[in-house]
Order: sequence, then structure tokens, then C-alpha cells
Amino acid sequence: LRQAERASAQNGETLADRMRRAGVLFEFATGAESFETFRPQNESQRAALQLARGFADGGASSLFIHGPAGVGKSHLAAGAIARLIERGENARFLSARRLPLELRQAMEDGIGRDLARLDEYANVRFLALDDLGTAEKSTAFTAESLLSLIDARVQGRRPTFFTSNFPLRDLAPRLCGSPGELSGLLVCDRIREIARVAKLEGESFRGRKGATA
Ligand SMILES: Nc1ncnc2c1ncn2[C@@H]1O[C@H](COP(=O)(O)OP(=O)(O)OP(=O)(O)O)[C@@H](O)[C@H]1O
Ligand SMILES: [Mg+2]
Repeated sequence: LRQAERASAQNGETLADRMRRAGVLFEFATGAESFETFRPQNESQRAALQLARGFADGGASSLFIHGPAGVGKSHLAAGAIARLIERGENARFLSARRLPLELRQAMEDGIGRDLARLDEYANVRFLALDDLGTAEKSTAFTAESLLSLIDARVQGRRPTFFTSNFPLRDLAPRLCGSPGELSGLLVCDRIREIARVAKLEGESFRGRKGATA
């Protein structure tokens, strides 16, 4: 990584800069939380690491990894994006929970900026879409944005690494803007069609990392 860091720094931007611009947290960017530091605790975590590596190698199409808090979903998704960026691929990391905030911010920056931002995420070659369905309540705006983003990625066959605390069945109602509204079902139906689904099991890793976790 250090070698890659030097190489890209010559172009005026360090690898950490590129990672940050792609939405990957600094800890991931520095390699502290990468595939190398992921220590599988059970079979499901070994399998998920394998799938994440496949995604980063461009081999697997899309992934949907779900499971309880702290088992390494974001770690693996960010690790995959970091690996892709190291290789010079066009890749980004997006928290689904932050998407409505980002779009609202973009909207304040100017007319049409929110759509432009959504298009960026729709068109980037590789995307990690972390934490689907975490927000307690989905607004019609969030639901619609998510559906159009995922729809565009599915149409364009662009690989996406989804993570969620919920299996697809339970995720659908959480992504609907209002009762009777279909977007959550449509989102999950698309994910089911294109993604390898894997369940991560285990205890939360957060407690083990000591006071800094
Ligand atoms: N198998 C592992 N080996 C090393 N570190 C791990 C492992 N699993 C998780 N961690 C670390 O534990 C912390 C929590 O993991 P992570 O953020 O990936 O959890 P998550 O599954 O995304 O949880 P949440 O559902 O709360 O978002 C991170 O600092 C991560 O690097
Ligand atoms: Mg997470």
C-alpha cells in the first residue's frame, strides 16, 4: 500500500486522498481495516471474505451481505472499495443512511445538483451501498432516490456491494416511503435478481477492539 501511496502521490494526490474522495473512511484508506486485517471468526465470515475478495477482483457481479451489528459488513465493503481504488478503478463507498442528507445538501447547492449527485452514484463503475434500511423511517424521497439509483445500476450491470442489518424479506417494508407504496419491494426484488446473498453471523467485533472502538 505504501508503494501505491508513493506512486499516486506523484500525480499530486495521495492514495488516502483518493480513498477519502471516494467516501472510504481514513481507517480503511490506511489499510488498518482492509482484507488483510479481517480475521474471520466463523464459516460465514470466511465465506463473506471470499465473496468480498471476488467483488474486488471484479469477478463476482453484485453482493448483498446482511447480518447483526459489528460483524464486519462495512469493513468488508470498504475493504473491497479500497482495493478497487488502489487498482485505479472507479469506485465509491456510500452509506444509504447518509444518502438523503447528501441529496438535500446538494439540492441547497443548486437546482438539479441532487440529481447530478444521484447520477454519479448510479454511474460509478463499482459502488458499496452500506447500511440499507437502517433509518427508522424512510421518506418517499429517500425511497424514490434509492429505487432510481439501484434501478440505474441494475440496468447498466454495474457491480454493487450492498450491506444491511436485515435480510431482503425484512428490508423491503423498511425501504417503503409509506404504507402501500411499492419502492421497497421493487428495490429488494432487483437486489435479489442480481446479487449473491450472504449472511454474516457472529458476535459484534466492536467490544474486542478496546477503548477506541
Ligand atoms: N472479522 C473481523 N476482523 C477484524 N476486525 C473486524 C472483524 N469484524 C469486524 N471488525 C471490526 O469491528 C468493527 C465493526 O465492524 P463493522 O463496522 O464492519 O460492522 P458492521 O457489520 O458494519 O456493523 P453495523 O451493522 O453496526 O454497521 C470495525 O472496526 C471492524 O474493522
Ligand atoms: Mg456497518
